[in-house]
Formats: sequence, C-alpha cells, structure tokens
Amino acid sequence: MIIPKAITIDGPGAVGKNTVGSLLAKKLGYCFIDTGAMYRELTWKALKQEVDLADQERLSNLAAETEYRLLQVDGNERDCVLLINGREVGAETRLEEVERSVSIVAMVPGVRTELVAKQRKLAAEAHVVMIGRDIGTVVLPDSDLKIFLLASPEERARRRYLELVEKGNKVEFEQVLADLKRRDKLDSERQLSPLQPALDAVIVDTDGKSVAEVLDRIIEIIDKRK
Ligand code: DC
Repeated sequence: MIIPKAITIDGPGAVGKNTVGSLLAKKLGYCFIDTGAMYRELTWKALKQEVDLADQERLSNLAAETEYRLLQVDGNERDCVLLINGREVGAETRLEEVERSVSIVAMVPGVRTELVAKQRKLAAEAHVVMIGRDIGTVVLPDSDLKIFLLASPEERARRRYLELVEKGNKVEFEQVLADLKRRDKLDSERQLSPLQPALDAVIVDTDGKSVAEVLDRIIEIIDKRK
C-alpha cells in the first residue's frame, strides 16, 4: 500500500486529536483540517448574528453561505491553513457560549450535509490529516488510514483542565469532567453521524501515553502499511 492521501482521526472531546493531528500533519507535510473548528466557527457566527438555535433552516443556510478554503503558502501543504470566509479562526471559537451551544448546531441535519460536502472538497485538494467525530465513518469512508483515539473521561478531563488552567482560566476539575461527559453523551447519542469508530479504524488508546508516544504509534501504523 502507498502512503495514504487522507488520514482521518476521530475520537471524543479532549482526547488529543488536535495536538496529535497537527503534529502528524507537520511531520508528513500534510494539510491539517480540524472539522470541529468548522462547527465551532459556525456556532460563533450564529450566536453573533442572534440566530435562534432552533431555526434549523437559518443555521443550514448559514453553513451553505460559508466559504472554506485551504491556503497553501507557496503551494506547500506543510504550511497550509484553513480559511473560513477568508480568515483564520481564532480564540472566539473556544468561548464558553460556543462551547455550550456547538453540540446543538452540530446536530442539525442541514448543517451536517453542508459541512460534510465542504469537508470532502477540502480533502480532495491536498494530502490531509482531518480530525473530527465522523471523518472515518461519513466524510471520508474510503480513506485508507483511519485512526480512532480513545481515553477515559477522567484522563481527558485532566488534559482539558490543565490546558484551561495554563491559559489562566479559573475552573473546577469536577465541572470540566461533567461538561465533557455531557458532550460525550450528546455526540454519541445523536441520530445523525454519532461518534463511533469506523469498522476499519485502528483504535489507539491514549490513556497514560504521552503525545510523543501516541504520535510514534500512529507513525508505526503508517510504516507497517507502506
Ligand atoms: O472536536 P471539537 O470539540 O472542536 O468539536 C466541537 C463540536 O463539534 C462537538 O460537539 C462535536 C462536533 N463535531 C461534529 O459533530 N463532527 C465533527 N466532524 C467535528 C466536530
């Protein structure tokens, strides 16, 4: 088998998809695409425009109107950024109110149809590492390398808690754990594209493993398949 054109990484919140995915993309010289950021940016925009989150038609239209583009600096996939309506997403997508509402927006069928189509287009443009919840199952089911990252809720809450504290946020560990569990439930029990590993995904349990160890494990999986 040749080196895969698209590598999918799925898994629950705070499992390390972002850290591991972006490092893997850098190492391989691939574009890194965080589909969670697409749902988050859309949620932020909807909140800013005071869209009623029960108005599925407006949310779907908002997704349809949004332009997603990969900017490859000097045609180099290694230095590639995802532009949403011409700009890079920033800290606004991590705001508390976005955090609270993004699962609701991500449940809207019209939103998912639009974003999945746009994610497929992006993946067709370059070699990509694409991270999310349904990338291996729905967005790129033909991808020849699918990774599903796992870690216990307590381990994920610990990682998210340290990350928030490092950024100067005042948070309680128990609250972070409760929020993660609530999101897990919404993500895995929704009818459309629930969080689950693809049948042909390689499950990588990250409990007790460092980022470097997880990355090494994925590289090992890629090397074995070459
Ligand atoms: O990975 P994240 O925390 O940035 O994702 C934000 C939200 O978007 C989360 O509720 C799951 C949802 N999501 C999704 O439904 N499908 C994806 N491909 C990516 C994220």
